[in-house]
Amino acid sequence: TIVSGMKMIQHARSNGYAVGAFNTNNLEWTQAILRVAESKQAPTIIGASMGAIKYMGGFKTVANLIRDLDDDMNISVPIAIHLDHGDYQAAKAAIAANFTSVMFDGSHLPLKENLAKTREIVQLAHEKGISVEAEVGSIGGEEDGIIGSGEIAPIADAVAMVNTNIDFLAAGIGNIHGAYPTDWPGLQLNHLHKLTDAINDAIGYDFPVVLHGGSGVPDKQIREAITMGVAKVNVNTEAQLAFHQALRDFILTDQDLQGKNYDPRKLLAPGVKAIENALSDRIDVFGSYQ
Ligand code: G3H
Ligand code: ZN
Repeated sequence: TIVSGMKMIQHARSNGYAVGAFNTNNLEWTQAILRVAESKQAPTIIGASMGAIKYMGGFKTVANLIRDLDDDMNISVPIAIHLDHGDYQAAKAAIAANFTSVMFDGSHLPLKENLAKTREIVQLAHEKGISVEAEVGSIGGEEDGIIGSGEIAPIADAVAMVNTNIDFLAAGIGNIHGAYPTDWPGLQLNHLHKLTDAINDAIGYDFPVVLHGGSGVPDKQIREAITMGVAKVNVNTEAQLAFHQALRDFILTDQDLQGKNYDPRKLLAPGVKAIENALSDRIDVFGSYQ
């Protein structure tokens, strides 16, 4: 069932779990995410980056694909159609194409401009019941051409951003897109704790925070972050690695029978299964059960 991210994430925050936000790339990826969401009975966000949207054909294609699959596959759990790391134009296009949730990522802009543009997006989105995520500080590393400095989110910036009336907040807390370096010191959980305390004090209720760069964060740190207010965890790389490894194994162990087994549906099946296994494991760690 297609829903906005608002109630879904607030429910997770109030009940001490996190919703997985899993990036899609194509038809098979979208089916895999929906299948795993339904089999685990886990409310789920399907994220599409600007790069993935371009790759898949456009905003309408992505929104309609997810909607139609949700219907054809009789998905009973809540599913949000989410723009991941969108710029101002992309956020507007996603709203127009009936995404049910958008992330406007103005983290590379001066704070004042980030706040002002976020306010505009919030107004446009909320008119249609669409949830909005914004970012302060910055997520390190690179995802689909989005490069971040890894700046730790100043607490005052986080509070100011929440006051724009967004629905959930992405904050840099030492998290990085893609693989973590071996000398990564871990999430800055003390900072997260202070940040969520300050936000909750300012607005008077438990506000949901988003953890980007979910791939490769030790389970213990994820669970701790959830107790501190994280209610949405984004995972992309982990599913890509699982897909790649399975496809590679399939061919290198000659299960494609020297190329005689060339049916794309059979070639991709082990990769799709691997995505499902990887995400199912994440859902268990996030505790995403309604
Ligand atoms: O926005 C998407 C995520 O932050 C994904 O990060 O590829 O490190 O899991 P990841
Ligand atoms: Zn991200």
